[in-house]
Parts: sequence; structure tokens; C-alpha cells
Amino acid sequence: MAEFWSKGVATEIATVSLKVAFERIGIGNIVAFTLPTNWASRQVMEKVGLRYERDITHAGLPHVLYRLKREQYRMA
Ligand SMILES: CC(C)(COP(=O)(O)OP(=O)(O)OC[C@H]1O[C@@H](n2cnc3c(N)ncnc32)[C@H](O)[C@@H]1OP(=O)(O)O)[C@@H](O)C(=O)NCCC(=O)NCCS
Repeated sequence: MAEFWSKGVATEIATVSLKVAFERIGIGNIVAFTLPTNWASRQVMEKVGLRYERDITHAGLPHVLYRLKREQYRMA
């Protein structure tokens, strides 16, 4: 549903997901990956605090891996 793209929905979902993972469940670190050319997804990852770590291969395709550790996460 393209009419909902770039309205902050994915950023809102990612923000809540990180909050639950770190603050309620206590997960040590979160990773996310996408195709290198998926600039919107990369922007969402970076906006919520994940940082590029390395290139990986997933499903036979090049991907970029991002990570956020619990100690790097700012509790809101
Ligand atoms: C990728 C996707 C899930 C992101 O969800 P969303 O709700 O649109 O994301 P948000 O609105 O929270 O944030 C998107 C950010 O990417 C930016 N962006 C969008 N297209 C971009 C592009 N081509 N290059 C760089 N940045 C881009 C937006 O400007 C926004 O950043 P900003 O808030 O700093 O301006 C959604 O856009 C989507 O489904 N896109 C098409 C399908 C797709 O690519 N799916 C993933 C592949 S499997």
C-alpha cells in the first residue's frame, strides 16, 4: 500500500519493537538486514539507532547487516 510509505509507520513499529525487546524482554542485541539498495529500510534502521556492521549473504543475495546492542540503546 504505497500510499502509506514514508509516513513514519515503519519507524514507529521499529521503535516500539526495540523498546519491547530491550526494556521488557531484555534481549542483548538486535540485528536487521536488507538489500544494500533498499534505502528506505536502511534509513529506518539508522533512524531507530541501528548501525551498519558488515555485508552478508542472505538467501543467496548480498545484504547489509545492522546491529544495536542493549548497552548502546537509550531507554526513553
Ligand atoms: C521500506 C518500508 C517498509 C519503510 O516503511 P515506511 O513506513 O515507509 O518507513 P518510514 O516512513 O518510517 O521511514 C522511511 C524513511 O526512508 C526514507 N526513504 C524513502 N525512500 C527512500 C529512498 N529511495 N532513498 C533514501 N531514503 C528513502 C524516507 O524519507 C524516510 O526517512 P525520513 O523520515 O528520514 O525522511 C516501506 O517504505 C516499503 O514497504 N517500501 C516498499 C517495499 C519495500 O521496499 N519493502 C522492503 C523490501 S523486502
